[in-house]
Amino acid sequence: MSDERTWKLLELLREATQFLSSKGLESSRLEAEWMLSSALDIRRIDLYLQFEKVLTGTEVESFRSLVRQRLAGRPLQYITGDAGFRLLDLTVDERVLVPRPETEILVEEALTHLGEQPAGQILDVGCGSGAIAVSVARECEAARLVATDLSSAAIAVARVNAERHSVAERIRFFCGDLLAPLATDARFAVILSNPPYIASTDIPTLQPEIRDHEPHLALDGGADGLDVVRRLVPLAARHLLPAGRLLIEVGAGQSDVVESLLEDSGFDASTIYTRADLTGIPRVVTGATPGR
Ligand SMILES: C[S@@+](CC[C@H](N)C(=O)[O-])C[C@H]1O[C@@H](n2cnc3c(N)ncnc32)[C@H](O)[C@@H]1O
Repeated sequence: MSDERTWKLLELLREATQFLSSKGLESSRLEAEWMLSSALDIRRIDLYLQFEKVLTGTEVESFRSLVRQRLAGRPLQYITGDAGFRLLDLTVDERVLVPRPETEILVEEALTHLGEQPAGQILDVGCGSGAIAVSVARECEAARLVATDLSSAAIAVARVNAERHSVAERIRFFCGDLLAPLATDARFAVILSNPPYIASTDIPTLQPEIRDHEPHLALDGGADGLDVVRRLVPLAARHLLPAGRLLIEVGAGQSDVVESLLEDSGFDASTIYTRADLTGIPRVVTGATPGR
């Protein structure tokens, strides 16, 4: 891309799309649009109303700097600072995992169970960006939540998202290991978690975009990926109300083991099942504690 000439918006967009595509990026036009709208600080849809606009040198350079970051492998969502999750745009950066579409299923499943325990609080363990807690708060007006994360940096991002979506008054954040920062007698109606669940030996084989940019604390689940889950399930059993429900996101091939963990921790076997994600992978394991 030459620095000498003036650029109209559509010309620059086309040029960048071609460039990104030649470097192997699949959704090059869409990604170029997201980066250009971010550089110009306008909504993506508004690009379409300004195709003939002549861009200033500063605008062109700030867009190019985003394209260079993308070519260096930085995830698009960290570059634009925004990730779509269910109904929301969430603020994200390297302090948190980019929320994934699979996790939208966990939220959907959680919402179907909230009616069973309308009075109790909901706990999100390992809240990261706040994707789960903030979405549940937005989509269920009565919900009151507690969210924990071992990373204080992640909690800072989650707080930003809670403020951004006007639910900060209904979510209390605590930094620490799993449920350790909470009172020993705290009891919840529903406990939700998308814990780190990738086996440590698989981390070096992840796509560089994930491996080199996303926080390993959010990914690495120990030898078989289930270190955090194994500690979380019995803790959750102790901190749920009678007939309270646990929902955990798991990786491919982990659901049978996690269902057994729930049974071993006293969850009612008749309530345990796994919901598949949109690609058919068993993804959200859930079960309830024995009822009253
Ligand atoms: C896979 S990410 C999920 C983030 C977010 N809930 C989401 O779904 O996008 C896992 C999160 O758990 C946190 N985490 C890892 N180990 C933890 C622990 N022992 N106690 C609390 N949080 C932990 C990480 O910091 C990270 O934010």
